Amino acid sequence: MAKILVTGAAGFIGSHTTDLLIAGGHTVLGVDNLRTGRRSNLERALRSPSFRLTEADVSEPGVMAALVSEFRPGAVIHLAALVSVQESISDPALNQRLNVTATQFVADAAAAQGTKRIVFASSAAIYGDTTDLPIAEESAAQPISPYGEAKLASEQLLLARSEAAGFTVRCHRYFNVFGPRQDPASPYSGVISIFDRRYRDGKPVTIFGDGRQTRDFISVHDVARANVVAATVPNITTGTANICTGQATSLLDIVSVFAAYYPKVAGPRFAPARAGDIIHSLGRPDRARSELNFEAKVSVADALGELIRSG
Ligand SMILES: NC(=O)c1ccc[n+]([C@@H]2O[C@H](COP(=O)([O-])OP(=O)(O)OC[C@H]3O[C@@H](n4cnc5c(N)ncnc54)[C@H](O)[C@@H]3O)[C@@H](O)[C@H]2O)c1
Repeated sequence: MAKILVTGAAGFIGSHTTDLLIAGGHTVLGVDNLRTGRRSNLERALRSPSFRLTEADVSEPGVMAALVSEFRPGAVIHLAALVSVQESISDPALNQRLNVTATQFVADAAAAQGTKRIVFASSAAIYGDTTDLPIAEESAAQPISPYGEAKLASEQLLLARSEAAGFTVRCHRYFNVFGPRQDPASPYSGVISIFDRRYRDGKPVTIFGDGRQTRDFISVHDVARANVVAATVPNITTGTANICTGQATSLLDIVSVFAAYYPKVAGPRFAPARAGDIIHSLGRPDRARSELNFEAKVSVADALGELIRSG
C-alpha cells in the first residue's frame, strides 16, 4: 500500500479521489486551503485513521517542500487549482500563482525528496475551441483562456522535469466531470450541477442555445479511479492522456433524464446562445486505455441517477 499526497483534497474531484484511495488501503495526506473546497466533502475520509488533512496554500513557497519532506509520499496527485475559467480571465496573476507556480512547487518538492510519481489535473481546455472531433492528444494545444494556458504550461514543466528528477508524470486531461459534491454556486460551474440544483429547488432550467450542444461528460467516480490507477499501479510510464468517455451527450439528453425524475418541474427555458460557448466537445479515450488500462465505466444515465438520488 502506498502513501499518497493529494492537493485540493477537499474539492469535488479531490474528495472522491481521497475516498477511493482510502478504500484501496492507501494512506493519504490531503492538503487544501478551502478556497473552493469544503471540509464536509471529506466527512467520510476524516473518520479514517488512514487520512489527515492539512489546511495550507500550496502556492506559498515552502509549503509543498515541508509537506513532502515530512510525509514522504510515493506519489502526489496535484488537483489544487483556480478552477474558474472566468476568474482566470479577470485575475490572470492569481491564475499564474495557483495554476503554474503551485505546480512548480509540487515538482520541486517531489524532485528534492525522490517522490516517484506525480499525477496532474490538466484539462480539455488546453485544446481550446477546436472543431476537429473527437479530440486526440495529438491535436494542437490551442488554449483560449489563461486557465487553459496555465494547464498547458504546468503539463510542460512537469514533463520537462520528469526525467532529470526521476519521477513519472501522468497528465490527465479531464473533459466535463460531474457527480455529487460539485459546487453549483458559481454560474461557471459544471452545467449538470447547476441543473441538479434547479430541479431540486423545483425550478426550470435555462438552456443557452437549442440544447443540441454536446459534451463528453464523465462521472467523477471514473475520474477518481483514473487518478488512483495513475498514482498506484506499477510500471506506468510518463505521458499525457485524455480522461473522457468518447461519448457525446447533449444538454437535451441530460434534461430528459432530470425531467423523468422530476415530472412536476416545468420544462426548460431557452435563451440565446452565449458568445464564445463551444458547441461540441468530444474526447478520444484510446490513449488512456493503452497507457493506463483505464476506461470509463459509469454511464451518464447511471451517474445522473446517482447524483439526483444523492443527499
Ligand atoms: N471539474 C471538471 O470538470 C474539471 C475539468 C478539467 C480539469 N479540472 C481540474 O481538476 C482539478 C480539481 O477540480 P474540481 O472540479 O475538483 O474543483 P474544486 O474547486 O472542487 O477543487 C479544487 C480544490 O483545490 C483547492 N485549492 C485551490 N487552490 C489551492 C491552493 N493554492 N492550495 C491548496 N488548495 C487549493 C480548493 O480549495 C479546492 O478544494 C483542478 O485542477 C481543475 O482545474 C476539473
